Amino acid sequence: MAQQILQRTAVETPRVAAPALAPMTEPAPELSVILPAFNERANIPMMVERLSRALDGIDWEVIVVDDNSPDGTSALTRDIGSRDRRVRCIRRVGRRGLAGACIEGMLASSAPYVAVMDADGQHDETLLAAMVAKLRQCETDLVVASRYIDGVTDSGFSASRAKASQWSTVLARKLLKVELTDPMSGFFMLRREVIDELAPKLSTQGFKILLDIAATGRDTLRVAELPFVFGARLHGESKLDARVALDFGQLLLAKLSNDAISYRFVLFCLVGATGVGVHMAALYMVHALGVESFGVQQTIATIVAIAWNYVFNNAYTYRDQRLAGWAFVRGLLVFELVCSVGAISNVGVASLIYAGGPSWWIAGLGGAVMGAVWNYAVSAAVVWKTP
Ligand code: GDD
Ligand code: MN
Repeated sequence: MAQQILQRTAVETPRVAAPALAPMTEPAPELSVILPAFNERANIPMMVERLSRALDGIDWEVIVVDDNSPDGTSALTRDIGSRDRRVRCIRRVGRRGLAGACIEGMLASSAPYVAVMDADGQHDETLLAAMVAKLRQCETDLVVASRYIDGVTDSGFSASRAKASQWSTVLARKLLKVELTDPMSGFFMLRREVIDELAPKLSTQGFKILLDIAATGRDTLRVAELPFVFGARLHGESKLDARVALDFGQLLLAKLSNDAISYRFVLFCLVGATGVGVHMAALYMVHALGVESFGVQQTIATIVAIAWNYVFNNAYTYRDQRLAGWAFVRGLLVFELVCSVGAISNVGVASLIYAGGPSWWIAGLGGAVMGAVWNYAVSAAVVWKTP
C-alpha cells in the first residue's frame, strides 16, 4: 500500500520543488503518538512520563489534540511542551469529536508512524514498542491493539458496555467485512501515508475511527493485531455516551451505502419519522374534531408537522449550525415558505389517494412522505445552507 500511495501522490499533487539546499537539520521523529483529549488535564503529565519510559530508544513525540477543554488541558500541555519539545499540542476551537481530533492529530505529524491512544492511561503504552517493531518489518500498514484476542480480559468495562462492544464488533465484521477481533479499539498504530490517503474519506464524527479506517481501506490495508488488557482510567470520567451508539449506526449506514447516506440524512429521517407520527396524531385530532373537508384536515396536520420538523432538525440534525434568536424565527419562516410548495403537493397527493379509496390514514401518510423528501432537499439548500 505504501508504494501504491507514493505513486499516486506523485501523479495527483503538483510537485513543489524543495529548496535545493534544504539541509536535514533535525528530522521528524519516527513515531507520533496522538492523544485525543477532552478534560484530561489531570492525566497528561502521567501520560508523558509513561510514554518516556515505554519509548526509551525510539525517537518519538506526542501530540495532544484538545477540543478546548474547560479544564485547561491545552495550557498544561503547552506548558510541558515549552520545556520538552517532544510534547506538542493542537487546541481546536469550535469543534468537538473524537474521530476528527484523531484525524487532525495524525495529519499534523511528519513521522513515518503514528499511533492513537486514550489520554487517560487505559491503553497499555508498553505495547507501543512492539507495534513499532511490527511496522518496521514492512509487512503491515496498520497494527491494532485488541482487547479480544483469546485469553485477554477486559478490566475497564461494565457488563453492559462489554455486551454493546461485542455486538458492534459482530455487526462490523458481518456487515462491513472488517476482519478485526476488536474494530472498536481506540488504540492502534499505522503508517502515516495510510492516513494521508484515507483522511478525506473518513468521518470526523463519533468514536469509531479505527472501524472507519479499516472499512475504508479494506481492500489495500495489511493489518496485524496484538493483544492488550484494557485498564482503568487514571483520572476523570469516560466521554462515551448514548450518542456513540447513534454514531456507530451512522457509520455502518454510510459505509454500507458507499457514503450515499450521510449522518445528516440519517438524523433527518429520524426526525422525519417522529414528524410523521406528529402529523398522523394531528390529523387524527382534527379528523375526530369533525373538521369538514379532508383537505383542510391534512393542511393543518402538515403545518404542525413542518413546525415540529423544523424545531428538531435545528436542534439535532443541524446541531453544528443551529439557528438561534432572530435567525431561528427567520429560518422557521423560510422553512414554512419553501415547504408550502411541498405542502401543496403533499395535500394534492394525499387528496388524490383519499379520493381513490376510503382510508384517510393511507392518504395522510402518502402526503407526509412526499413532504418529508421535499423538506430535506429544500431545507438543506436554503434554510441551513449546507453545501
Ligand atoms: N479531542 C477530543 N474531543 N477528545 C475526546 C473527545 C472529543 O470530543 N471525546 C473523547 N475524547 C478523548 C478522551 O479524553 C480520551 O482521551 C479518549 O478520547 C477516549 O475517550 P474516553 O471517554 O476515555 O472513552 P472510553 O475509554 O470510554 O472508550 C474507549 O473504548 C472505546 C471502545 O469501546 C476508548 O478507547 C475509545 O477510543 C473506544 O472507541
Ligand atoms: Mn478511556
